[in-house]
Amino acid sequence: MRVNKVIIPVAGLGTRLLPATKAIPKEMLPIFSKPIIQYIVEEIALSGFKEVIFVTHSSKYSIENHFDKSFELEATLEKRVKRSKLREIKAISKLDLNISSIRQGEALGLGHAVLIAKKLIGNEPFGVVLPDMILSDSLENKKRIFFKKMKNNFEVNNHSSILLARAPKNKITSYGVAKLKKIIKSEGIKYGDIEKIFEKPSLKKAPSNLFAVGRYIFKNNFFKYLESINPDTNQEIQLTDAIHEYILSENKVVGYIYEDEYYDCGEWTDYLKANLALSFSNKEIKKDILKFLKDL
Ligand code: G1P
Repeated sequence: MRVNKVIIPVAGLGTRLLPATKAIPKEMLPIFSKPIIQYIVEEIALSGFKEVIFVTHSSKYSIENHFDKSFELEATLEKRVKRSKLREIKAISKLDLNISSIRQGEALGLGHAVLIAKKLIGNEPFGVVLPDMILSDSLENKKRIFFKKMKNNFEVNNHSSILLARAPKNKITSYGVAKLKKIIKSEGIKYGDIEKIFEKPSLKKAPSNLFAVGRYIFKNNFFKYLESINPDTNQEIQLTDAIHEYILSENKVVGYIYEDEYYDCGEWTDYLKANLALSFSNKEIKKDILKFLKDL
């Protein structure tokens, strides 16, 4: 079955990046020349999905505005003959995607945000993409996008799946951490069935260093499990808890291992690394910055 729709939960208040995010959504912070959310939406479009659903908050209207056509800006660029900028600006609203949004009135967690989008998903399978994780595969070689592979595989084998990456030891307790039954390698991809997954486990309880890096594809029956999850001690409904229950009920979830670079832009170190790495696509900037860093 084809999977066309992707949920992007953007209602979070970005408290880890305060005060920068007091009046600006974290998804609108720039990485080099574009806001974070543009990289995310472009990855989804390049992966072949047809529809994006933002689960959003009243303070985050600038995200939707960013993907809208801006007549005034386009007219001004046209008048001033800024052709390459005009092309870039037009391309944003011309992405081959239908974008809609729905509000998450209460901050009740990632699982709750996904449930809010249920009425826009209907009976179809769906993807979930977390907006603070930029994956380098969609930037360097568009043919190698992992999320696209997950989509293609789903359409052949109809198994829910999660993208996993290796976390350094000091970050393991910040993520959803999974254990694979057995790691298989085929055509350069490592994957396996997920045996268990825990949200933000202690180091002692972490079943591995493989964590959910923010790309998921679910069969529609996953909603049934998400609806039955109780909130955790922070009163949040965790997506990870629902995945764990889903697996315990004999539903197969494939974990694909992503081995390229990722940037967790929800924290400053990775945010800055992403800025450097992406700005290096411009040779002049790269040369200047490398010299600057050497002299620092
Ligand atoms: C969320 C998920 C977690 C995942 C992480 C990736 O956590 O709950 O399982 O590993 O995103 O960034 P959050 O960052 O919202 O605390």
